[in-house]
Formats: sequence, structure tokens, C-alpha cells
Amino acid sequence: MSYFTEENSEEAVSARMGENVSPRLRQIMDALIHHLHAFVKEVELTEAEWEVAIDFLTKTGQICSDTRQEFILLSDVLGVSMLVDAVNHRAPDGATETTVFGPFHVEGAPERQMGDNICLDGKGEICLFQGRVVDLEGNPIDNALISVWSDNDEGFYDVQQPDIQPPFNNRGIFRTGPDGRYAFRGIKPVAYPIPDDGPVGKMLATLGRHPWRPAHTHFMVTADGFSRVITHIFVEGDRYLTSDAVFGVKKSLIIPFEKVDRANEAWQADFDFVLCRQKQNKG
Ligand code: BEZ
Ligand code: FE
Repeated sequence: MSYFTEENSEEAVSARMGENVSPRLRQIMDALIHHLHAFVKEVELTEAEWEVAIDFLTKTGQICSDTRQEFILLSDVLGVSMLVDAVNHRAPDGATETTVFGPFHVEGAPERQMGDNICLDGKGEICLFQGRVVDLEGNPIDNALISVWSDNDEGFYDVQQPDIQPPFNNRGIFRTGPDGRYAFRGIKPVAYPIPDDGPVGKMLATLGRHPWRPAHTHFMVTADGFSRVITHIFVEGDRYLTSDAVFGVKKSLIIPFEKVDRANEAWQADFDFVLCRQKQNKG
């Protein structure tokens, strides 16, 4: 074994792994070392630039807490979260497409009755969300759980404003019956910036990028025997649809929100969730 050189750097590091490393971990680490070293060689990283990177990662770690996950945010804005999602959820044509989970889902949201209003702070333009949960053949799925979460009319999730918003504001879980139908009231969501007061926000600004996400409502739909779908629906016409800070938009998820009551600023959004049986996933 020769000593570390610029030329043999990848092999020198990879060769240090012991014999008991699992084949999958070895594959991942070999590829990581390969791409990291190729990157440093390609850009001829200076020591000053390396220090900037270490400082950035240090600050990213330091701002993380139980309620703030800056590394996931970094993964989101670099398109890595959406790429991992794409690689892991190659659903057949016709199945509802997935998108980024985001940091604002919380466990323990209450199960509500069909038709209930999930908007507890009384802010925003009311919207009736309705549709069906069906399989790829269009058959209704009974006993599917639809978990929904959304920002409020000021662009904040309840967990970002625990002293201002009621707990579980704009959240709820709905269970379908044999007809697969769901319906609930919420608000027409509004665009909002991802948390940009930390290193990731600073990075976006340095790169001339904005932190905004187009208006969307989050859904997680589960049913026995079917693959879980984590997705959003996006409001057609939103100005940020083509520049989502986290690359979460897919054409099939953009839907028209129809104004159904002009006097009361009430809207309606119709969307069917199409789930595939667990074995029908391509990936
Ligand atoms: C969200 O939509 O809730 C979200 C997704 C990624 C980063 C920040 C927020
Ligand atoms: Fe969101």
C-alpha cells in the first residue's frame, strides 16, 4: 500500500474500510468518497473555501434543535430531498405523485368528522376540499386515512407560532368510508418563505435565490395494502410555481381553486388521491 497522493486519494481512503462493513454501506461510502474527491479536484478547492464550507456546516448544525432541522432544509434547497423522493417513489402512471414531506408535519393531529373545518384561528379564505381516495382502477378505498396540514393565512404553521395559533390549527385526519370520499373545510393556502433566518437562508441569498414556496396544502394518505402517499396540492396560478425554493412542484399536483361564493370569499378544490397497491410500486 502506497501513501496518500493526489492521484490515488480515493483508493487510499476507501481501502481503509474494514472487512466487516456491510456491502451496502461499502457501496455508499465508496461512491461518497469518489464524488467528494472528484469534486475537490474538479474545482481545485482552496483552503479558504474549505474553511467557509466547514463554518457553514458548523453553523447548520448549531442552529438545529427539536423544532428546527436545518440539515433537512439544506437537503431541500439543494434538490436532494426531491431526488431521494423521486428515486424511492417511482409510481405507475395515474398514481398520485409524491413530493417533499417538509418539516411541519406533527404526530397526534386529531381525527375529525367529514365536513369539519380545520381552520381554528378564523383567518383566511375558506375553502372546501373534496374528492375521493381510489386505487389505480378507480375503485374507492374504504378506511383510508387522510392527514392534512397547511400554513395559516399569514404563511405560518401552528408549530411556528405556538403562542399565537391554537394547537393543531389547519390540521386534521379524515377517514374515508366505503365510497372513498372525503370533504373538509380549510383555507385557501398562501405562499410563504421557508425559514430563512439561518445559514441556509443566507446561502440562498448569496446565490441570488428567494426562499418562497408556492401556496400548497400538505397531505399524507395511507390505507391498508397501499403505498403511503406524501404529497401537496398546489394552487394554480401561484407566482412561485416555477421557482419553488425546494423544487416540490409537479404538474399533476397543480389544481384550480374555484371561487364558489364571491360574497364570502369561499373556494373549492377538488382532488382525487390515487393509491397503488404496495407491490405496484416500480421502485
Ligand atoms: C413545507 O412545505 O412545509 C416545507 C418544505 C420544505 C422546507 C420547508 C418547508
Ligand atoms: Fe408547506
